[in-house]
Amino acid sequence: MTLTNKRDALCGAALALGLMAGPALAIDPFFPEFGNNGIDVVQYDIDLDVDPASGAIKGNTGLTIKALRRTTSFGLDLHGLDVTRVTVNGRAASFTRTGGKLNITPGRPVPAGGVMLVDVSYGGIPEALADPTAPQDELFLGWFKYRKATYVVSEPVGASSFFPANDEPADKAFYIFNITVPEGFTGVANGVLVGSKPVDGKRRFTWAMLEPMTTWLATVHVNKFRSDLSRAPDGTPIRVYAPFGIPQSHIDGYAKAGEMLTYFETLIGRYPFGSYGSVVVADPILYYALETQAMSVFPAGNDPPSEGLVAHELAHQWFGNSVSVAKWEDLWFAEGLATYFEFVWEHRNDPAAFDAAMLDNYDYVVDRKLKAAVVEAPDQLFSDRTYLRGAAALYALRLQVGDSSFFNLLRHIAQDNRGGSITSEGFIRTAVRFSGDASVRPLLEAWLYDDAVPALPGLAGRKAKPGPVKRPDIAGSRCGRHHNVRSACR
Ligand code: ARG
Ligand code: ZN
Repeated sequence: MTLTNKRDALCGAALALGLMAGPALAIDPFFPEFGNNGIDVVQYDIDLDVDPASGAIKGNTGLTIKALRRTTSFGLDLHGLDVTRVTVNGRAASFTRTGGKLNITPGRPVPAGGVMLVDVSYGGIPEALADPTAPQDELFLGWFKYRKATYVVSEPVGASSFFPANDEPADKAFYIFNITVPEGFTGVANGVLVGSKPVDGKRRFTWAMLEPMTTWLATVHVNKFRSDLSRAPDGTPIRVYAPFGIPQSHIDGYAKAGEMLTYFETLIGRYPFGSYGSVVVADPILYYALETQAMSVFPAGNDPPSEGLVAHELAHQWFGNSVSVAKWEDLWFAEGLATYFEFVWEHRNDPAAFDAAMLDNYDYVVDRKLKAAVVEAPDQLFSDRTYLRGAAALYALRLQVGDSSFFNLLRHIAQDNRGGSITSEGFIRTAVRFSGDASVRPLLEAWLYDDAVPALPGLAGRKAKPGPVKRPDIAGSRCGRHHNVRSACR
């Protein structure tokens, strides 16, 4: 769903602000094999019957699609799995499989602006895809089976391992999940838990994500979970799903998200979703957490989860999820802000300590000569450039405009782009407008696009502390392959 028709659908309002318009028709140059710029998916209805013992699924995904041009045939992303039947607007449609595409030819052409209700029946054992952000490592994305359980981590392009998708970051949609599992198991997905009921000796869990979500944030988990429900001080339900045997002290780490959520609301405005949750995955090959929308994924090996990590994935719900990046090259917006809020949370009662930590981060960025925060290739997406130089860029902006103007800007970004997406250029434009400070443009352009590390405003002659420059102790990409400390994260 593009921002434009989300607004039309939800508020009947014309698109008012140019700053929000994401390039919904672009194919992301980082992953040209993925996505289809001729269609706009409005909603996915994903029904999966999962056998956690064998890993097999029986699936049916309904897609409500708007044709952006006259359509005689179109492609969706889908890897592996056997497709048994496709219908478009209730009539059987012919289809072929080529590479990672499911190509569909409706019985009759669909006019520009027309609606297609597409129904895809499929099954088999999903296989995770090779991770194109880590070409030299054996890393995978999407649907995984681990012991008698399954889980999903898709960033950036794993979604098509378990449902037919328009796997394009700017095409956001609503999602309904029906996850059917054997008795004793729990099916978890994004959003609000609608309920569960017995079906043919099994149990079906229904989840609804009724805020626009990008494909890579969709997640489904099947396991024997213990579940804990609490409430944030503001009333938002906070769920934790952990495999049995995870200690209470570990689970309490995620429950802390409620307090963080309510604190972040005072800075950046209302939490954008109806509930928040954390789901724990015990597979030792998973070494990072992921901010899957309203239901973050954490590796059990972080014992207990650091507050920084919990704060990081929570901050992503505003920045990266509700307001997502229209193009992968702009991921600094998500990772830089999530990292910034790790520092905010840790030093919330000590502004001087916050500044000191940000200066240490700056010294690290200088010492490592971290290049532009906007990256040019997929293998840079989860590097220190997006996380740490991204956070340093935000700190430079905050030094320039002051704390209250800075948070004012962030609140506007979160509010005005809610459910939509943003680009670096959109961020710069908004920052200039809300600060009323024209120097913000060259400042941000230098931080985001130039490889040289700019000076911090007001601190041009400053010298780094003597001694070795340590990498800041932030959660973000710490466990990533870039730092070769994956084992420390287990
Ligand atoms: N977005 C995640 C986070 O910052 C990290 C994801 C790393 N993904 C990957 N494919 N290595 O919490
Ligand atoms: Zn992150």
